[in-house]
Amino acid sequence: MASIDSVLQEHRVFPPSAETIARAAISGMAAYEALCKEAETDYAGYWARLAREHLLWKKPFTQSLDESNAPFYKWFEDGTLNVSFNCLDRNLENGNADKVALIFEADDGKVTRTTYRELHSLVCKFANGLKSRGIKKGDRVIIYMPMSVEGVAAMQACARIGATHSVVFGGFSAKSVQERVVDAGATAVITADEQCRGGKNIALKAVVDEAIAMGGCEAIHSVVVYKRTGNAIGMSAGRDVWLHDLLEGQSATCEPEWVGAEHPLFLLYTSGSTGKPKGVQHSSAGYLLHAILTNKWTFDLKPEDVYWCTADIGWVTGHTYIAYGPLACGATQIVFEGVPTYPDAGRFWRVIQDQKVSVFYTAPTAIRSLIKAAETTATAHPRNYDLTSLRLLGTVGEPINPEAWMWYYEQIGGSRCPVMDTFWQTETGGHVITPLPGVTPLVPGSCTLPFPGIAAAVVDESGHDVEWGKGGFLVIKRPWPSMIRTIWGDPERYRNSYFPGDLGGKLYLAGDGAVRDAKTGYFTIMGRIDDVLNVSGHRMGTMEIESALVSCTELVAEAAVVGRPDDLTGEAICAFVVLKGPRPTGDAAKAIVKKLQDWVAKEIGPIAKPKDIRFGDNLPKTRSGKIMRRLLRSLAKGEEITQDVSTLENPAILEQLKQSV
Ligand code: WT7
Repeated sequence: MASIDSVLQEHRVFPPSAETIARAAISGMAAYEALCKEAETDYAGYWARLAREHLLWKKPFTQSLDESNAPFYKWFEDGTLNVSFNCLDRNLENGNADKVALIFEADDGKVTRTTYRELHSLVCKFANGLKSRGIKKGDRVIIYMPMSVEGVAAMQACARIGATHSVVFGGFSAKSVQERVVDAGATAVITADEQCRGGKNIALKAVVDEAIAMGGCEAIHSVVVYKRTGNAIGMSAGRDVWLHDLLEGQSATCEPEWVGAEHPLFLLYTSGSTGKPKGVQHSSAGYLLHAILTNKWTFDLKPEDVYWCTADIGWVTGHTYIAYGPLACGATQIVFEGVPTYPDAGRFWRVIQDQKVSVFYTAPTAIRSLIKAAETTATAHPRNYDLTSLRLLGTVGEPINPEAWMWYYEQIGGSRCPVMDTFWQTETGGHVITPLPGVTPLVPGSCTLPFPGIAAAVVDESGHDVEWGKGGFLVIKRPWPSMIRTIWGDPERYRNSYFPGDLGGKLYLAGDGAVRDAKTGYFTIMGRIDDVLNVSGHRMGTMEIESALVSCTELVAEAAVVGRPDDLTGEAICAFVVLKGPRPTGDAAKAIVKKLQDWVAKEIGPIAKPKDIRFGDNLPKTRSGKIMRRLLRSLAKGEEITQDVSTLENPAILEQLKQSV
């Protein structure tokens, strides 16, 4: 693993500047250690203190952590609150009413500002509108929306009435929408006519119609449609309603639905080791607590900041670091509809310059592609822009290679801004291993140390700690407030995936390999240890893609999917396919590759398209019929096969599979 080697040889260290330490919420290593100590001495008490200090409760809780039904942990259970109240009403009461909450930057560059008062009123009308359609506490609502003020408001409106939302990324297919509607047992969908990305209009409502027509969605009684582009779409009388009509005449106040701390705020589907995406269920209080704490401690959000997280609300990052955390902290933030390369690859830098962004949070894949753009197109180089408003940078989603880290630090941050390499997952709700700006000396390529109170460790296959310097499984040893509560409808899968018996059944298994630096104990993430790929920071299950390929029954007999390293996207999807007909070559093979890529895009979404597809008469299998994936991984990388192939039934197949189309 080249990137791991380079991190292990990484000697560059960037201690926090005096200025950063002075302004930070947590200042200095001693303050960090004191928090860790507090958590260690009185774990439940530590989190209870923070939950009292940072959340507004309707009814205070009396018990912090309930472990009686482990691993189904409960936090602050007898307390009641409302997440939307904590994000919005809080800011009307503390002097932020006329502060800009959202700066919406549309794909075409048009900018709209929404104050906390305006957002509160929109969310209340939205919530009242949803209630008028009979949507109530506990109902599941699918949100399939573009990046927009209305998208954020839809999430907040659900939270306000206690409906559990499940946001589906706008790039996912009709099939993916339908599967999520069915699995979640949703009764309503909030969508838009179309979305605008990179100068193109892309259908959303038509995809929802197609999803519902696939069947199993009979429970959907309402489809709320935000008019984004105004192009013609079909509206089904009785079921479909325009958002502007729904809001018309609604009261601008809405008494929040006070819910228990454990009430499911949202489900978010993510990929695992099997073909079926899992609905990760999050709580209300514990989740929001960590969203607030990490925004305050990792990003050191202050009233004067202009904050920008470039994620989409379809991913967990867009939940914790757009729709909930920053609002609860009273921040002014950018909501960006477009793509980094439109109208040119200077877009991010221009937005930072024009909106005077001070805290910027993006993904390594975006950084890598913008490095490439800056090298090839002079006008896309960040040096053309005034980026002096920046004071802190963040990255998330995949390991960042030290070279990209250094470019980000120097070219974007002007060697002034600390880079927070935040490790976390859909399941963790918020950052779990991350530097803190006023505390942690930074080392490029390392996510450094656990967030105070998070018991992260690296263990071997029997669950014992490994020595620093040795690789192993990344685990979290104690439950924490923002952790996944269960997999919707499948508690056994929750237990088996995250608390496997091999490790003793008590440790949360993240699914990543990690190593701690022998001297500092800093964590470096080595990537997934399961059948999950990370393509441009998007999590894709190899089994999901295999299922999609073999569902093309007209062409495909068998398929195996593996990842291979890719300079731009981190990992690339590589599929080995056995067709029903003869193995194609030349243009015929190219045509089938294109057909299968389009097929997968239609089944899952364009992000799941295999980059490479290779054809064979068979796949490398053991005598018992098991596909030897490690050989496929070597083939995908273009490596010579040096591994033992003595158990291989059909060694001749390797020669065939070496040939790419
Ligand atoms: C997986 C989780 C958390 C929001 C975005 C992704 C990888 C995430 C880092 C990081 C190295 C990282 C891991 C993890 N990952 N952040 N800073 N360094 N790897 O959420 O889709 O649930 O994916 O992303 O492999 O398990 P997700």
